[in-house]
Formats: sequence, structure tokens, C-alpha cells
Amino acid sequence: MRTQVGIVGAGPAGLLLSHLLHLEGIDSVVLELRSRDHVEQRVRAGVLEQGTVELLETAGVAGRLRREGMVHHGIELRFGGRRHRVPLTDLTGRSITIYGQQEVVKDLVRARLEAGGRVLFEVDGVRLQGVDTDRPAIRFRAGGQDQELHCDVVAGCDGFHGVCRDAVPEAARRVFERAYPFAWLGVLAAVAPSSEEIVYAASEHGFALHSMRSPTLTRLYLQVDPDEPVEAWPDGRIWEELQARLATDDGWTLDEGPILDKGVTGMRSFVVEPMRFGRLFLAGDAAHIVPPTGAKGMNLAVADVHVLAQALAAWYRTGAGDLLESWSATCLRRVWRAQDFSTWMTGLLHRSPDDDPFQLRLQRARLEYLARSEAAARSLAENYVGLQQV
Ligand code: FAD
Ligand code: DHB
Repeated sequence: MRTQVGIVGAGPAGLLLSHLLHLEGIDSVVLELRSRDHVEQRVRAGVLEQGTVELLETAGVAGRLRREGMVHHGIELRFGGRRHRVPLTDLTGRSITIYGQQEVVKDLVRARLEAGGRVLFEVDGVRLQGVDTDRPAIRFRAGGQDQELHCDVVAGCDGFHGVCRDAVPEAARRVFERAYPFAWLGVLAAVAPSSEEIVYAASEHGFALHSMRSPTLTRLYLQVDPDEPVEAWPDGRIWEELQARLATDDGWTLDEGPILDKGVTGMRSFVVEPMRFGRLFLAGDAAHIVPPTGAKGMNLAVADVHVLAQALAAWYRTGAGDLLESWSATCLRRVWRAQDFSTWMTGLLHRSPDDDPFQLRLQRARLEYLARSEAAARSLAENYVGLQQV
């Protein structure tokens, strides 16, 4: 097989890249390890920055997003039994949209297939070859047969646990990493949201997050120990903790309902530099992971492939490689801004086993400053809705 751009991974990064390239008249093939059903059902992120929504709109894949997405103009910070609204739109003129990542994936898969795009699901044994030459290839197995995809460039969009990053020799990459002493337990519950806006709660029991997916589906997260299996969290225990961590002094109540999906995700920060090696471009979670507190991961993946599609289009059109040369540095500026914001939000809201009383007082002082100072709230807000210029 031959194509111009070989893409590994049908997550938001790989699918959107394939679609954006198609709009530029560039051919690509997407190779995905899992089934179509699996990638379309995987419950993950939910917060889209306005810039992400605008890009999906320009790319012609936002019809359902516009109908079903929930536009939000503020978020709530909850601590000490009190609630404090951060009015995102008043402070920045911009908003966020809640729309499940798997819905974005469904919309993109459909758009690709309708346009005759090639997305191969359930391929395994992906191996990259010759990414340091100008004739790279991807070997893989599909339908029990060994295959080879020849291309001009390879986009490694295969997430944090993918294989593309390993094609970069260790001497040619530098990794920056941080582990956190907690994980997130995420649940999807069949119950109407108990709050109109997303609630980030810092409590003595640890962090909790109340989000949503639709008028009848609530998405909730709890900070948990990193080595705790999901079996340690029967539904009753989950609701008990959520009730305790989200409790307020003003009579607010959390409605409970059947839990449809639950999973524990470890939390880490990770960046590989540079994001390019020869003809291999690592985009999205394959190149960087942020803790989810700032809701940035999917938005960063989208930003990476937006810039990459523009750079590849310029290269194919004129032969000029300058945008491809600067691609990694351009993306990394946004990645590190998001890394800083996400790390800061995480520290602001979580309890660490090694937090001493002094640290807890600092955390409270920061939260109170955000509740009192418009300048502090504006800084949070402009990062949360997504910086236009980084
Ligand atoms: P992925 O979505 O991981 O896609 C990679 C794809 O590659 C997968 O389909 C995988 O099956 C495939 N693959 C892997 N290995 C191979 C292989 N060897 N061969 C072929 N295919 C392979 N981000 C936000 O922006 N906002 C949020 O609110 C948010 N909340 C989150 C909450 C949780 C609980 C979690 C876990 C993440 C959250 N994120 C959030 C992060 C977001 O989900 C990721 O950043 C996003 O999925 C990255 O997209 P991607 O396309 O780079 O990678
Ligand atoms: C959601 C996820 C996040 O990581 C976050 O910070 C806010 C909301 C969500 O899944 O809705």
C-alpha cells in the first residue's frame, strides 16, 4: 500500500489529522489497533476549548457538536463548604463546550469513511521503518496478513502507550516526566447533572469533579490512591465519597443514579522533545501527557495536528519545509503552557500524602485568592478556555 501520510492511531489526533489533510487534498491511511466500536465507546475527555470547537467547525465536522454540545460560560470552585463561580466568558469573552471525546471520535470516523478515507481498524504488530530516510514505511498485520504501508511521512498519533515513540533512538530524544501520588476514578452515571456548570471541589477527603455529558448523564471523578483497583470502589462507596467531597453549607444536593461506566486512570506529566524525528511526527498523547485537572489533553492533541496539517500542506504545495522544521517547537510552547496550568490546577485542588499543615494552608490561601481577586480568576479563566497565542 502507498499513501502520502501514514497515520498510526484513530484517536482524536489521528482522525482529525487525516480529515484536515483530506481537506488539503493530501491522502492518508489511518491504522488503529482497536475495533471501531471500541474507539467510539471509550469514555474519556469532555471539555473542548472554544478554539477546538472552531477548528472542528471550519473542518465541517461540528454539526452534531453544535446541536448536542453544552456551551458553558463558567466553572465552579468549591472548598470549605462554599461555592465560587469563575465567570469564564465575562473574564475572557470565550466559552468552553462539553461534548464527549467519543462523540468527537464518532463524528470524525463517519466523516472519514463518508469521504472515502481509509481507516483500518484492528491492525496489530505496527512497526515503523526508515523514519530517518525519505522513504518511511509502516509494517503491520491486518486480517491475518502481513502488510506494508509506504508513505512520505509518518504521524505517530498512537497515544501514550503506543509504539511510534520507540522508533526514535534514545539519544535523539529527551523525556521530561513527573508522577503524581494519586489517580482519578471516573464514572458515568445515568442521572441528571446536579449542577449547571462543572464543579471542581477541594475537600479534606481529596479532590472531586462534577461534570456532565447530557441533560440525563453525569460525569464524575474522584481522586483515589494510584494503586487502588477499580474493584475497591463499589457504587455505594463512590457515591458516599462524592457526597462527602462535594457537600456544601447551602443545601445543595447531589443526585445519585445507576453507574454505567467506571475506570481508574493514573496521573502523570510527560513530554518528549523534540516531537519530530526525521520523517516521524509524534502528535497528541504519543508526545505528551498532562494531568487531567486542566482538561487540556484532547485540546493539545487537536492543536498539534492542526499545526501539522498546515505545515504538511505548505510542504506539499511549495516544497518549503520551514513549517515542518518549526512544528515541534511551535507545539511545545503550547504543551508547556498547558503542562504548567494543569500541574498548578492539580496542586490547587488535590491532597497529597506528603502535604503538611503548612502546604494545606497555602492551598487554602490560593483558593481564597481565586475567589476574591478578579486578576487571579482571569488568569485561571484564560488558561482554561485556551490561550489563542502561546
Ligand atoms: P488517544 O485518544 O489515546 O488515541 C490513540 C489511539 O491509538 C487509540 O485509539 C489507540 O487504540 C491507538 N493505538 C495505540 N497503540 C497502537 C498501536 N500500536 N497501533 C495502532 N494503534 C494504536 N483531555 C481534554 O482535552 N479535556 C478533558 O476534559 C480530558 N479529560 C480526561 C479525562 C480522563 C479520565 C482521561 C483519561 C483523559 C482526559 N483527557 C482530557 C485527555 C484526553 O483523553 C487525551 O489527551 C486524548 O485522548 C489524546 O488523544 P490522542 O488521539 O493523542 O490519543
Ligand atoms: C472533564 C474532564 C476533565 O479532565 C476536566 O478537567 C473537566 C471535565 C469531563 O470529562 O467532563
